[in-house]
Amino acid sequence: MNSTTNQVYPVIWHNNSVSLIDQTRLPNEYAFVEIHRCSDLAQAIKTMIVRGAPAIGVAAAYGMYLGAREIETSDRNEFLKQLEKVAQLLGATRPTAVNLFWAISRMLRIAYETLGTVEDIKQTLLNTARSINAEDLQTCYAIGDNGLAVLPKTPEKLTILTHCNAGALATAGYGTALGVVRSAFREGRLARVFADETRPRLQGAKLTTWECIQEGIPVTLITDSMAAHCMKQGLIDLVVVGADRIAANGDTANKIGTYSLALVAQAHNIPFYVAAPLSTIDFSLVDGNEIPIEERNPEEIYQVGSTILTPGGVEFYNPAFDVTPADVITAIITENGVFPPGELTKSRLKQVV
Ligand code: MRU
Repeated sequence: MNSTTNQVYPVIWHNNSVSLIDQTRLPNEYAFVEIHRCSDLAQAIKTMIVRGAPAIGVAAAYGMYLGAREIETSDRNEFLKQLEKVAQLLGATRPTAVNLFWAISRMLRIAYETLGTVEDIKQTLLNTARSINAEDLQTCYAIGDNGLAVLPKTPEKLTILTHCNAGALATAGYGTALGVVRSAFREGRLARVFADETRPRLQGAKLTTWECIQEGIPVTLITDSMAAHCMKQGLIDLVVVGADRIAANGDTANKIGTYSLALVAQAHNIPFYVAAPLSTIDFSLVDGNEIPIEERNPEEIYQVGSTILTPGGVEFYNPAFDVTPADVITAIITENGVFPPGELTKSRLKQVV
């Protein structure tokens, strides 16, 4: 955390290694893990020390450099062959967040395109990872500011409901959905954030509330099942969530529970926005049916700390994400502007990478 601004940076290149905020220890402990090897970085993504689609992408980019650094050959072809293996290792960590694959592909592409020695390629890979990190931060600022334009004009101070953590911790900093919240707060347009606790990993309860408290953003925690009731009571003006992968038609994969939130928002006539960088849009997928959904260890459902919640003999199903159909999404807020899901392809016009 930057002590003068309270700004949180979950992935930092420091002392020739990657420093990650250990998100599994928040909010009780604010600690960093220092990572020197690619296999440790892959493990950190798998175990959710670093999580959130854009942050996973940034971490994986550094992971590609760490892997490249470990390759001991000066033969270019052999180096590229081994770098493909590094890409496979990192790509096998989590399946849904497309930013992971976007970052790995960009790093691989730059390696193939760089002329010169293997050492030159390694240096270019480090520079590229640092660029991906810096660009994501600028992207989040732009998403936050573009979000301001679509905030309802009344009431003057809005209550925004969000799900999971799509904040600084889930990106290079500032956040996507929480970036919109931050920008609204800065402009005096925010009354309060309602944070869903986000079963089973509790990213809302543990991470979103923590981020808000750091900056004095008023935050109220509810359980996921309370959202419809709060909307019916008129407590919520709009919903803004992040995304892990958006198909070309606007169908959006995000943390499990997002789909039901979108349906109840529609039932109450409450705008439902997705805030995400272009790196989260997978234009190769026609619709959300093609998005791979991660299934995680059932332990996440039946165990809290060391306490087992269920009787023996129960079966479990633990999908970590769901897909919200485009037709219940009001619009998608990107760094290039705000697009109704049906017009998402227009967001590419300004896309440079
Ligand atoms: O399983 P997680 O914690 O990696 O899931 C994170 C989310 O679903 C976020 O909402 C999403 O990645 C957007 S982050 C800006």
